[in-house]
Amino acid sequence: MLNMRNANMSDYKFLVHIDLKNDGYTVTNQAEMTERENEEHNKKIQRYLTDPDKGAFIIEDSVYNKPIAMLMYSVANRDSMYPWKTIFNEIDRKLFQSDGRFIQIFQLWVHPNYRRRGLATKLKLKLEEEALYHHVDLIYTHTELTNSHVIELNIKIGYVAHQS
Ligand SMILES: CC(C)(COP(=O)(O)OP(=O)(O)OC[C@H]1O[C@@H](n2cnc3c(N)ncnc32)[C@H](O)[C@@H]1OP(=O)(O)O)[C@@H](O)C(=O)NCCC(=O)NCCS
Repeated sequence: MLNMRNANMSDYKFLVHIDLKNDGYTVTNQAEMTERENEEHNKKIQRYLTDPDKGAFIIEDSVYNKPIAMLMYSVANRDSMYPWKTIFNEIDRKLFQSDGRFIQIFQLWVHPNYRRRGLATKLKLKLEEEALYHHVDLIYTHTELTNSHVIELNIKIGYVAHQS
């Protein structure tokens, strides 16, 4: 049986592992991470379990007692000052609510044995409930143009494509 729940500290290693897999991206940084980079990455992932403006959902297979899918997100603000170039400033301001807040999907992954069973769709629909809870009306995600199946998935649930 498959159950969806909020992630907790027991999922920490799973989230770190999946994020490092870079599954679904053609451009990956093949270089070995230094110990310091590893530590920073661990801290970054941990924040999805501790920060009030971040979170993660897990789907687990209760038969094996193992997580088999996840979605990580954060509540961000389009008008915040970012130390790096962001795509948000290139997206029409009118699409954002007046306070600039939106939800950004950081990571979405489903174990290959469980794909095409609607699990990513379920995770994204759960995120819509979370958005309502945070009084946010826009969810942002990005993918490479080559990931046409991800684009199809998003369009099926009502996302609007913006190419940059
Ligand atoms: C992308 C991913 C999350 C999809 O998960 P999933 O649970 O299989 O997706 P769903 O079952 O909810 O798919 C919903 C719809 O999206 C489209 N879709 C999803 N995967 C597809 C594929 N491999 N080929 C074609 N269409 C696909 C289909 O329209 C599908 O509906 P259908 O099965 O009724 O035809 C999963 O393949 C994955 O984890 N990939 C590696 C990581 C990744 O790419 N993450 C996204 C980064 S942006």
